[in-house]
Amino acid sequence: MRVVGSAALAFGFLCAATASLHPRSYETHDFFALHLDGSISPADVAHHLGARHEGPIGELPHHHTFSIPREVSADTDTLLEHARSRRKLARRDNNELLDGVLWSQKLDPPRKRLQKRLPSPPENLPRAPINTHDNVDAVHSQKQIAASLDITDPIFSGQWHLFNTVQIGHDLNVTGAWLEGITGKGVITAVVDDGLDMYSNDLKPNYFAEGSFDFNDQVPEPKPRLLEDRHGTRCAGEIAAARNDICGLGVAYDSRVSGVRILSEPIDDTDEAAAINYAYQQNDIYSCSWGPPDDGATMEGPGVLIKRAMVNGIQNGRGGKGSIFVFAAGNGASHDDNCNFDGYTNSIYSITVGAIDREGLHPSYSESCSAQMVVAYSSGSSDAIHTTDVGADKCYNFHGGTSAAGPLAAGSVALALSARPELTWRDAQYIMVETAVPIHEDDGSWQVLKTGKKFSHDWGFGKVDAYALVQKARAWELVKPQAWFHSPWLRVQHKIPQGDQGLASSYTVTKEMIKEANLERLEHVTVTMNVNHTRRGDLSVELRSPDGVISHLSTARRPDNEEAGYVDWTFMSVAHWGESGIGTWMVIVKDTDVNEFAGEFTDWRLNLWGEAIDGSNQPLHPMPNEHDDDHNIEDAIVATTSINPAPAKTDPPGPATDGVDRPVKPKPTAQPTTPAEAPAETADVPSPTETDAVETPTTTASSDSFLPSFFPTFGASKRTQAWIYAAIGSIIVFCIALGVYFQVQRRKRQRKDPHDDYDFEMIEDEDELQAMTGTSGRTHRRGGELYNAFAGESDEEPLFSDEDDEPYNDRRSSENRKERRSTEQSR
Ligand SMILES: *[C@@H]1O[C@H](CO)[C@@H](O)[C@H](O)[C@H]1NC(C)=O
Ligand SMILES: *[C@@H]1O[C@H](CO)[C@@H](O)[C@H](O)[C@H]1NC(C)=O
Repeated sequence: MRVVGSAALAFGFLCAATASLHPRSYETHDFFALHLDGSISPADVAHHLGARHEGPIGELPHHHTFSIPREVSADTDTLLEHARSRRKLARRDNNELLDGVLWSQKLDPPRKRLQKRLPSPPENLPRAPINTHDNVDAVHSQKQIAASLDITDPIFSGQWHLFNTVQIGHDLNVTGAWLEGITGKGVITAVVDDGLDMYSNDLKPNYFAEGSFDFNDQVPEPKPRLLEDRHGTRCAGEIAAARNDICGLGVAYDSRVSGVRILSEPIDDTDEAAAINYAYQQNDIYSCSWGPPDDGATMEGPGVLIKRAMVNGIQNGRGGKGSIFVFAAGNGASHDDNCNFDGYTNSIYSITVGAIDREGLHPSYSESCSAQMVVAYSSGSSDAIHTTDVGADKCYNFHGGTSAAGPLAAGSVALALSARPELTWRDAQYIMVETAVPIHEDDGSWQVLKTGKKFSHDWGFGKVDAYALVQKARAWELVKPQAWFHSPWLRVQHKIPQGDQGLASSYTVTKEMIKEANLERLEHVTVTMNVNHTRRGDLSVELRSPDGVISHLSTARRPDNEEAGYVDWTFMSVAHWGESGIGTWMVIVKDTDVNEFAGEFTDWRLNLWGEAIDGSNQPLHPMPNEHDDDHNIEDAIVATTSINPAPAKTDPPGPATDGVDRPVKPKPTAQPTTPAEAPAETADVPSPTETDAVETPTTTASSDSFLPSFFPTFGASKRTQAWIYAAIGSIIVFCIALGVYFQVQRRKRQRKDPHDDYDFEMIEDEDELQAMTGTSGRTHRRGGELYNAFAGESDEEPLFSDEDDEPYNDRRSSENRKERRSTEQSR
């Protein structure tokens, strides 16, 4: 361990944070993470607790790890509990030391992550792509470009994602940026993965050692050590493979690349937190092609320490401009998985990247969700990404999955940063949104937003265009700081009807609230919610904005048999980018499957994030805390709730009905800062007159074609949008008097906090883990299991599928769309 220490010290201050790392003996010791106030020293705390100070937690200010022998750790628990309750009561007695403990968490042992499933072997690939006819002119320009840039890399001509000579236009459109001299100089991307072969001659010239670390073996050099440690190297090659005589080129071939190795062995939350902040003044971008399992049954996000590290990254990384996190959306689409069930991809701090293949099709593996920002090229239609492999001069032609899409977006951001280093993490997201190119605009997945931009849950804002991104970066006016609005908790506590109906709950955000929040225009919207259900996979959730834009926050998932609903889960959407936020927001929870599994929508809260009106005085958002969502249900204000009785029809025949009054009666007492004490329950029930007034759209929507409510076929045309707007008017045809119900239901919310529920059993092997987590592979929320998104494909679902895109949405909708598609095809 001292050897590790001195080796790390050789790297100077960069490694100071990791100098005291050593293999943690979780068998004999319990570990605690403490956040201390600046006034007390970790040594004093250790002394007081009879603990050993293990060291700081990465770059998190005043966060430290302590260990205590198992025999005595129960006492520490009691002590810390004592400290917690004292803090709660704001009581100060003579124990000043404990007063300095701002936050504490017992650490879970590193969990053995699920076995990596190796990618489909290359021999499964069809020998030749279906369409291999090079365009003669394109080949000619490719040669010219190579000549003028001195590109001699042997596989450059096969790197279709950089310059496609077969399917013209289906590439990153990057060569124009190179010709203008933008090749990534001065920018560093950390590939957080299973290692990086710094001795590959294709990566060696651009390898950045000081930004690199191996958290699995606790050594400075993140060398691939296991046979399957190839994924990180392949991703790194896509970003920064050098312009030389080896293999091909990275998108930003003059940028540098670091390796941060975390995926090869189990790691605990402190190491993961340290990893995503590693050398965060040098590393600009963190490219992450992994996440919780994409099995359609897992709903899992980062633990609090990791969330804090992400916030620390965007607030303090890169000299305060913010680390840029890029995440692969996930490969679970064929298992009904959706990137909003992954707490990394649905974070507002990450750029979530799905895949598109070389024919421009939606690969069957690539997950959709409202948090998906863009797509980038990857495997499908009989080809994959051609990149660098582990070995001195090894290349690899079969890299794929969303794992391969993420790094191409990361490389494009590296180009943008090299053209414009002062972009903040939010500017980077803006220019992505601004320059992404919509594709298949008539596929029924697109909505036109208030800003005129288009958004699709399948494609995000479209595919990355590196040239356009760089141009936008150059001219971009930097955005003002981030502001936010958090609504109070909104109480629903109502049974969710089964079938195509849904339970709708709304909340009105006033102009004053937005002004008070210093919020000029929206970027991300998040909804944190509690739904109580006996089968999670039956649920789906829509969010409708005042501007009539619909986010499918969650979708039904066949494999998800979890006997639970959503517990303080936060869904995210980028579909409301540019809206004002003012007006009535509605959340509709559906339980489409009529079966014995049922549930109740308990409560929710709306969070709007965006640009500040006045940037001069806007503070940074506080660090996340596991108690952020704690609340008493009885303190939550009663939201306007109704059953959504009439499934909407598609293909609206009616005339534009702009200006139809919203059926929702806003709750006048709703204030964000002061939760209403005793709401006048009956005031929320619309009078019969109001109800009648909104029935009209229901009767005009008389199409025979049956589709589930608000099937997302609206989009392109204004007319369609208008109709949707009208359809929203049909939501409330009757309301139930909830008052009495609430009166009866009033009780303190009993909710088990998952973060206080420590489970210290060592997981010795895979079998045991499986037994713990069930055959479906579902895991607990705070798992440390990460896996490589490429390997997320099972054998029976090859990555290289020619299958047409699996459209986004719950399975019923996708069936409908398939039907629709086949009708179109037969035409
Ligand atoms: C691609 O790059 C070229 C410059 O090389 C630019 O003119 C064009 O607008 C970009 N986008 C598309 C979709 O071609
Ligand atoms: C909802 O939660 C309560 C406890 O808070 C429980 O008693 C009830 O059975 C749950 N209902 C469903 C449908 O899960």
